[in-house]
This record gives sequence, C-alpha cells and structure tokens, in this order.
Amino acid sequence: MDAYFEVAFVRGCTTSLTSFAILWVVMETVLIVGSGAREHALARVFAKRARVFVAPGNAGTSEVAENVSIDVTNTEALVAFAVERRVDLVVVGPELPLSLGIVDALSARNIPAFGPTRAAAALESSKIFMKEILRSAGVPTAAFRVFERANDAISYVRTSNRPLVVKADGLCAGKGVVVARDADEAEQAIRMMMVDRAFGDAGERVVIEETLVGEEASFHVLCDGVCAMALPPAQDHKRIFDADRGPNTGGMGAYAPAPVVSRSVSEQVMSRIIEPTLSAMAKAGCPFRGVLFAGLMIDGSDPHVLEFNVRFGDPEAGVLSAMVFDDLADLIDACTRGALKETRIRPTTSAALSVVLAADGYPVNVTLGDAICGLDSPMPEGVHVLHAGTARAKDGSVVTSGGRVLNVVGTGSSLQDAWACAYSGAKLISFRGCQLRTDVGHRALRSERMA
Ligand code: AMP
Ligand code: GLY
Repeated sequence: MDAYFEVAFVRGCTTSLTSFAILWVVMETVLIVGSGAREHALARVFAKRARVFVAPGNAGTSEVAENVSIDVTNTEALVAFAVERRVDLVVVGPELPLSLGIVDALSARNIPAFGPTRAAAALESSKIFMKEILRSAGVPTAAFRVFERANDAISYVRTSNRPLVVKADGLCAGKGVVVARDADEAEQAIRMMMVDRAFGDAGERVVIEETLVGEEASFHVLCDGVCAMALPPAQDHKRIFDADRGPNTGGMGAYAPAPVVSRSVSEQVMSRIIEPTLSAMAKAGCPFRGVLFAGLMIDGSDPHVLEFNVRFGDPEAGVLSAMVFDDLADLIDACTRGALKETRIRPTTSAALSVVLAADGYPVNVTLGDAICGLDSPMPEGVHVLHAGTARAKDGSVVTSGGRVLNVVGTGSSLQDAWACAYSGAKLISFRGCQLRTDVGHRALRSERMA
C-alpha cells in the first residue's frame, strides 16, 4: 500500500521550497467551495483541526461546518468572504470555479488556495488544450483530430465509418462526450454540439478520437508544482443500473484501491503519463498545483488517458478521503506551499467503498423534496454518510435536493469488508424512490475472491 504514496519529482518544474513552505503553518480557518459529497468529505477532513466554512454546502456540511450562501461561480464574493474572515486556506471542489480563475483571484490577495490556476485548469476546461499537451509530451492517449466546422467533422466520420468518440471542447457538466457506435451516431453528436449548439460555446469546436477498450480507473495525484504523489487508484460506476446498464450518471459508487491498477501499472502511469504531463504544463508556463485526476483506460497492463480532471472525482473523493483521512488536510496544505516532499502519510484504512443513494427519476427526471429517513440511526462501525443533494426543510428535517442524494461509505481491511460495511449502512436509510446499485465494486470483488 505504501507504494502508492511515493513522491515523484517532476522534471522541468523549477519552483523551489520557500522558507515559508517548511515552517509549520497554523490553519485556523478553511473555506471549502462546492456543495456535493466531495465537499462534505473535505469538510469532515478539515473540521478535525480548523473552523470550516462551506460555500454553499448542503445539509451534511452544516453538521460539521458553517454553510455560507455564496454560489461557486461568484468569484468576487468568495474572495471577499475569504479576505473578511481571514481564511488561511481555500479548498476548491468543482471544476467550474477553477476554470473561472478563483485560484488566481485568491492568490492576488495572498490567500493560499488548493487547486490549479485558470490557465492550468484548461487541462479539464478544454479537451483540445488537454489533447495537445498530451501529444506534445508523448503521453499515451487515443489518436484524435480537432474540428472547427460541422461539415468537416461530418465528412471525417462518414469517411472513417468506424466507432469514434465525439467530444465537445469545453465544460458541459459531464455531458459533452458521445461514444458513437457508427457514423450515424457520430454525425448526430456533431450536429447536436456544433449545429444545434446544445452546449453553447463549449461545443463550438470538437475533438473526434479513436475508441479505446479496456477497464477504466480514476488515478488521483496530488501536485505542489514540483512533486507529485499518487493516491490509491479508484474506480467509479457511471451507469445507473447494476451490471453497468442504463444511462450514464455522475457516478453511482466508488471504491479504492482498484486492483486493475497494479503496482506496475501505477509506476507506468506515473512515469509515462503524470510526470510528462506535469513537465509539459510547466514548460507551457502553467505549472499544475492541486489534485490532478487522470481518467484512464487500461487494456491489460497498458494505460491510456481518456481525460484529465483538475479536481477530486465525486464519488471518488469519498473513498479517497476515507483512505487517507488522518493525513489529507496536511497533504492538501502542503500542496499549496510547495512542501509535498516534506509529507509522509499512512493509509487510515486498507479499503473503502461507497454506494450512492440517488433520487427518484435520476438521471433523467429528478424529483426533489422527499423526506429522508434514517439519517439519525447510529451507523455500524466503519461506516459514515456523506451528503450530496440534500437540504434542510423549514421544519429542520433533511430532504432530497439533487440527483445524487447521499454516499454511504464503508471501510475495512478488504474490499469485501468495505462492501459489507457500506451496504449495512445504506440499509438504514430510506426515501421515496431511492435508487442504488447493489454491485458496487463488482470487478474488484471478483478478483479479490479469485486471489
Ligand atoms: P471523458 O469525459 O473524456 O472521460 O469521457 C466520459 C466517458 O466516455 C469516459 O469515462 C469513458 O467511459 C468514455 N470515453 C471517453 N473517451 C473514450 C475513448 N476514447 N474510448 C472509449 N471510451 C471513451
Ligand atoms: N466520478 C467522475 C468525476 O467526478 O468526474
């Protein structure tokens, strides 16, 4: 397990530790930006040692922190709040505020912030930028072409006449990728993005790439601009129904460590993907600080990059924070100070697995406002509940207020134990129309049983 936490140095990154960086910094007040299960997980981590504000938060974050009613896109108000409350550290959860430049705005006011600058966040906010960085760094990823005109893109998919993936360049809340089985489906996707402008300017240009096969994994790396430290590899489940059927969602559950990322795959990811990408980012004038989440496709033992995210995955954050709960606050703090090299961590648990409880109708037609029962039940040992789409009603009760409502996280000495733990907790909670997958971790559990 310790192998995951080895620190790698990134060639070409010249930022050196400042004397400030190696001093112990007292962290009294922390602001977390966002409102999902990821932010509830982060709030639990920081609440152990600081006063925590969450903007805007949810019903769960209000139990461990103070919610502040500021939207994640209101950079000016978030910075003003951080200045006024003399916040020591801002931890930004979602990609949108990062791509709007919140870290740049906070840095201009000398407020330490965890996350990339606007320029570095382009690794997620522009698929074209990301693919070009990968190409320049020789990082394994699907072969691709960029199109600025719908007609050119359509004639390309017609001539190719094979399965291709069509991706809108900009941020589309996870909906901008179509894995097309044939030229008709690819053409439909191009028309939807470039002609009907379903995603506005985000679909003005598209990337069309080869379809990769294999097993997906979520590989998170903490970066301080000089060093990179991998967290345990995770996997999430995107489809709503068991056996990976039904429409795509934001993620119905996650677990770590994911055995598909063996020690040798993990080493390859660090040397062939992470280090060259971070070096290329430094060379391009936008060194990456924060958490880099590589979405990988692994064929046998050969990893390719599907996408980069510039933030923790959700629901991955719930299981990763459970695995390094005792040290995550220090690690995040060290990233903002260029001091990752100074940190040492020990996993808090050997395995973690989360099951998402989703609202009736999710992901198509979500019903909101249903009362949630069982949140006050004492949870079995090793289980905790993270809130995502929840709100407090006027009478103080907790109701559903989003598609993914809760994550029930279980921990244990094996994935099997973590699975049993998570599902024993999930049984205690109910609300009308609650949907959950019963097979989270199925790939890993099969390989654990076979071992
Ligand atoms: P992305 O946002 O680029 O990760 O795409 C979302 C999902 O689309 C991924 O999690 C994959 O399941 C799928 N996907 C993206 N790119 C490819 C590809 N080149 N080949 C196969 N599947 C892909
Ligand atoms: N769970 C995938 C993501 O956060 O993008």
